[in-house]
Amino acid sequence: MKVAVLGAGPAGLYFAISMKRRNPAHQITVVERNRADDTFGWGVVLSAETLDNLADNDPVSAAWIRDHFAYWDDIAVYHGGHRTVSTGHGFCGIGRRRLLLLLQRRARELGIEMAFETEIDDPRPYMETYDLVVAADGLNSRSRAAFPEVFKPDIDVRKCKFVWLGTRQKFDDAFTFIFEKTEHGWVWAHAYQFEPETATFIVECSEETWQRFGFGDMSREESIATCERIFARYLGGHPLMSNAGHLRGSAWINFPRVLCERWSHENLALMGDAAASAHFSIGSGTKLALESAVALADYLHSESDLPAAFAKYEDSRRVEVLRLQSAARNSLEWFEDVERYLGLDPVQFKYSLLTRSQRISHENLRLRDPAWLGDAEAWFQRRSGNADNVHRTPMFAPFRLRELTLKNRVVVSPMAQYKAVDGCPTDWHFAHYAERAKGGAGLVSIEMTCVSPEGRITPGCTGFYAPEHERAWKRLVDFVHAETEAKICAQIGHSGPKGSTQLGWQKMDAPLPSGNWPVMAASEIPWSPANQVPKAMDAADMALVRAQFVASAEMAARCGFDMLEIHAAHGYLLSSFITPLTNRRTDRYGGSLENRMRYPLEIFQAVRSIWPAHKPISMRISANDWVGDDGVTPGESVEIARLLQAAGVDICDVSAGQTSLRARPVYGRMFQTPFSDRIRNEAHMATMAVGNIFEPDHVNSILLAGRADLVCLARPHLADPYWTLHAAVQMGDRDVKWPAPYLPGRDQIYRLSERNATMGMRV
Ligand SMILES: Cc1cc2nc3c(=O)[nH]c(=O)nc-3n(C[C@H](O)[C@H](O)[C@H](O)COP(=O)(O)OP(=O)(O)OC[C@H]3O[C@@H](n4cnc5c(N)ncnc54)[C@H](O)[C@@H]3O)c2cc1C
Ligand SMILES: Cc1cc2nc3c(=O)[nH]c(=O)nc-3n(C[C@H](O)[C@H](O)[C@H](O)COP(=O)(O)O)c2cc1C
Repeated sequence: MKVAVLGAGPAGLYFAISMKRRNPAHQITVVERNRADDTFGWGVVLSAETLDNLADNDPVSAAWIRDHFAYWDDIAVYHGGHRTVSTGHGFCGIGRRRLLLLLQRRARELGIEMAFETEIDDPRPYMETYDLVVAADGLNSRSRAAFPEVFKPDIDVRKCKFVWLGTRQKFDDAFTFIFEKTEHGWVWAHAYQFEPETATFIVECSEETWQRFGFGDMSREESIATCERIFARYLGGHPLMSNAGHLRGSAWINFPRVLCERWSHENLALMGDAAASAHFSIGSGTKLALESAVALADYLHSESDLPAAFAKYEDSRRVEVLRLQSAARNSLEWFEDVERYLGLDPVQFKYSLLTRSQRISHENLRLRDPAWLGDAEAWFQRRSGNADNVHRTPMFAPFRLRELTLKNRVVVSPMAQYKAVDGCPTDWHFAHYAERAKGGAGLVSIEMTCVSPEGRITPGCTGFYAPEHERAWKRLVDFVHAETEAKICAQIGHSGPKGSTQLGWQKMDAPLPSGNWPVMAASEIPWSPANQVPKAMDAADMALVRAQFVASAEMAARCGFDMLEIHAAHGYLLSSFITPLTNRRTDRYGGSLENRMRYPLEIFQAVRSIWPAHKPISMRISANDWVGDDGVTPGESVEIARLLQAAGVDICDVSAGQTSLRARPVYGRMFQTPFSDRIRNEAHMATMAVGNIFEPDHVNSILLAGRADLVCLARPHLADPYWTLHAAVQMGDRDVKWPAPYLPGRDQIYRLSERNATMGMRV
């Protein structure tokens, strides 16, 4: 096969090598605009694992690369002049120039032709003369630009400015992050040694800080001198160096996240950064490039023709790329928002930095550096007021709100059971909630319990509006208090436009086949074309519903609930006021956020005035309508939280969505936790996180990174009422309290777990 490779970066060279290794008869030419030794950049990070994979593909180049690897195990963070170090991270790196020279040597040895100093303006002439053309011409690929309609590149230019520099100062004991506060804002550096004499020193800051410094108007020398001044106390008098002469190596840029919809066209395939890029802060760009090169070479030899090989290449690499780009997005967003975290305690800040991509979990950190993690856990326990038993994981730290102390941070999230009869909880509810209270969670919330018959979502929803409701709920609360250490929270709400609908396991949110009752909302906007058009509430309706909320809260107080939560999320009545998607009012309850929040806050104030002063109140909100700027955005939810906090709400239960059929949520593990993180660290309000959190590891990492104060689990508690007790077994925590009659069961599961742990299994 006659092959042209456009670009002699890691992707292009390694693809050429991989092809030639599979069949020496291929005629391969690599075309590159730069001179052979004229490469930009400093060090790149790879992992030992990546190199092992490469050794299977080409042992010769892998051995050469390994010979030049710099290894480092520690991560050091300077923050506020403070240095903290943790170990066990296991990176390795190599100079980019060294890597490319090794790959060029190997290519030459295999008989690959290389044409340097040859600019490619258009891939088409190559496509006409070669059987196969691989475009590995980097982030700003001209080959990609030649067929925009085919490749449909999605290029997301990120917010921070960065410049890739080098230094002779030694950073050889740790991969080092330095955060410096300057007169113009925070500036930070990512520094790592890759050769005995040289370290990479990437300087990064927000666009605003960059503007305030006036970097845009500075010459390269002035820019570097300014960076030297900012980081003077870390540089030991050594200058910062730019790869002058190459635009990308020395200029400030914004990182462009590239992802193409298609990666091939006719006989042309995109590879490496040209097809998909990954932010440098997770050090995976070169890994992606090298592994894609191997994959395409493989498929070109296993498949019968080019289209089949390209199809397999795209399919297999896209999954890996999306996985890495998701981790890279978490990581780069952390740096973009770093000013949110710089006020955290240095321990929490470091933990947040280490877990930013969400690829490193709590238990993963324990494997890497048990001593550091142990200290961090002890810090968390002490800060939670638990000085006696500092060796427990964050999940088992107490939490206090007003006079309420929870024994741990796990919450059974409210979940409608649809088993009530005329609003009255039944034995189902008693058995269901009693089991969960025995299961070890610190707080159990009952489902949205409605303030009136018309305020129910479905005919199966529970209420707080009749004497028999009070008797049934009180029986449950008394049991929970008498027999368990759990606290119990009453969630109260009104269904608004989503009322008069079918049970959860029937046609959710669809009107009843018969016996519908009238519904009301902020405006006359039905949930769907099939739902009733709600009545827009007038002053009398608002006064009535307010009084119903107060009467329900009074009932919950008489029952002895420890905490109250007002449901203002998920498109129900109060949520219909908050989101502009369903609030079209022109009075003082519509328009600005302050107006849209007015009625929910009036309800809160009325309820707060009768709710016992020593007990807390939470409010659940949808922090993202998932429709972009037309609805509530995570940014606006910070403003919502500020209003809640100013009104005296003790904690914000941060849910999202279910406010519009237009919503396009992005699901994933812990997918709503970023909204809680933002509210907690920007509005400085206590939060609960919820949404696809299902591992003890998730709970611990959310808490220790300061992304929430409490963690709600809903569906995991449907599958396992004893989720918390089982989590303790899994983590080896022996300090949780089991109900006395269950102690023999506890002892057995502890024994089994210890036995299995020694055999490397999990209970
Ligand atoms: C600041 C920074 C730090 C990074 N750190 C790391 C890291 O630690 N670890 C890691 O794995 N990755 C890192 N990367 C990413 C890494 O550099 C790239 O992902 C990787 O180099 C991609 O390889 P590539 O071959 O696709 O593209 P490139 O390395 O960009 O190579 C493209 C080649 O094509 C040539 N070319 C482009 N256009 C033309 C043209 N018109 N005519 C002729 N030739 C052309 C270029 O000169 C270049 O040699 C970092 C990137 C940056 C910006
Ligand atoms: C069956 C079921 C019923 C629910 N009912 C309520 C409810 O009454 N009130 C509420 O605020 N959220 C309710 N939710 C949402 C959950 O509290 C939680 O926010 C959501 O399920 C995401 O958490 P998870 O991923 O842990 O399940 C319900 C969820 C489920 C699965």
